[in-house]
Amino acid sequence: MKIAIIGANGQLGVDLRRTLSAETLVPLAHCDLDVSNSEQVDQVLDSARPDVVINTAAFHKVEECEKQPGISFAVNATGPRNLALACSRINAVLVHFSTDYVFDGGQQQPYTELDLPHPLNVYAVSKLAGEGMVYLTWSRHFIIRTCGLYGVAGSRGKGGNFVETMLKKAGEGVPIRVVNDQVLTPTFTGDLAAAVSQLIRTEAYGLYHVTAQGQCSWYEFARKIFELENLKADLKPVSTTEFPSTVQRPAYSVLSKQKLNKLGITMPRWEDGLSRYFAQRARNH
Ligand SMILES: NC(=O)c1ccc[n+]([C@@H]2O[C@H](COP(=O)([O-])OP(=O)(O)OC[C@H]3O[C@@H](n4cnc5c(N)ncnc54)[C@H](OP(=O)(O)O)[C@@H]3O)[C@@H](O)[C@H]2O)c1
Repeated sequence: MKIAIIGANGQLGVDLRRTLSAETLVPLAHCDLDVSNSEQVDQVLDSARPDVVINTAAFHKVEECEKQPGISFAVNATGPRNLALACSRINAVLVHFSTDYVFDGGQQQPYTELDLPHPLNVYAVSKLAGEGMVYLTWSRHFIIRTCGLYGVAGSRGKGGNFVETMLKKAGEGVPIRVVNDQVLTPTFTGDLAAAVSQLIRTEAYGLYHVTAQGQCSWYEFARKIFELENLKADLKPVSTTEFPSTVQRPAYSVLSKQKLNKLGITMPRWEDGLSRYFAQRARNH
């Protein structure tokens, strides 16, 4: 299989390259291809002729998205439309990533693909628009909603990841206050990449929720990070109201994996993913 990976230097992009290394890969960094530039998208994909295009590119600093809705929509909505149009022309499967943030968090049980989205911020609206663009443009697609990503490469768009931020703060010995009333499923990008590798070998196109198993608050996630690394940290749980923000975020964004499981693809628990992250991190250092 010839696979183009867009956003190839991002945290998910790097783990996809590692996981899919037995295939013929066309890694495309931002400097090689800007998804919001339709002419460039056509030119690069027409010349590469991949069987599969995996789009990890996103503008996902949520505070910046509020200030710059034009860029958010160009990258997160028009970008996937450009890719879907190009994929339909060259008959390539398109894999596109979306987010748990399409939901408002009002539910008390994991969201399924049939639950109605209700995004709370500009980033989430632009990602939902991106899903719609792909859905409407090209049928051979996988739209994957995921949650709480962290990978050894660190998020390019956000500058690091939550795990590294916690380790740095613990190293500095500063008080660490983390919200205990936002519940998610932290997902190691290595585990997500492994699921993508299985999904693209099927023809079961459509929308999927793909995260690790289980759930926790950000505070519980931080506690597990320090426990696994045997670190003493001045960690205390706080409420979201103690971090005033202009951006609303869902209080609960756990996604059901039942549809994915029906294909015979299962995800490991988030705690296991975190152990694998630390093992990979140790190998890289
Ligand atoms: N991170 C999370 O917690 C999370 C949660 C749910 C869903 N997601 C989704 O998962 C996907 C992957 O996220 P990630 O954490 O791996 O992000 P990431 O580390 O920030 O990687 C994104 C990559 O896309 C590139 N990029 C940005 N704008 C681009 C453009 N206009 N054209 C082409 N490439 C562009 C970036 O390159 P430069 O850095 O050089 O600009 C970067 O290499 C995204 O779709 C995101 O919305 C992420």
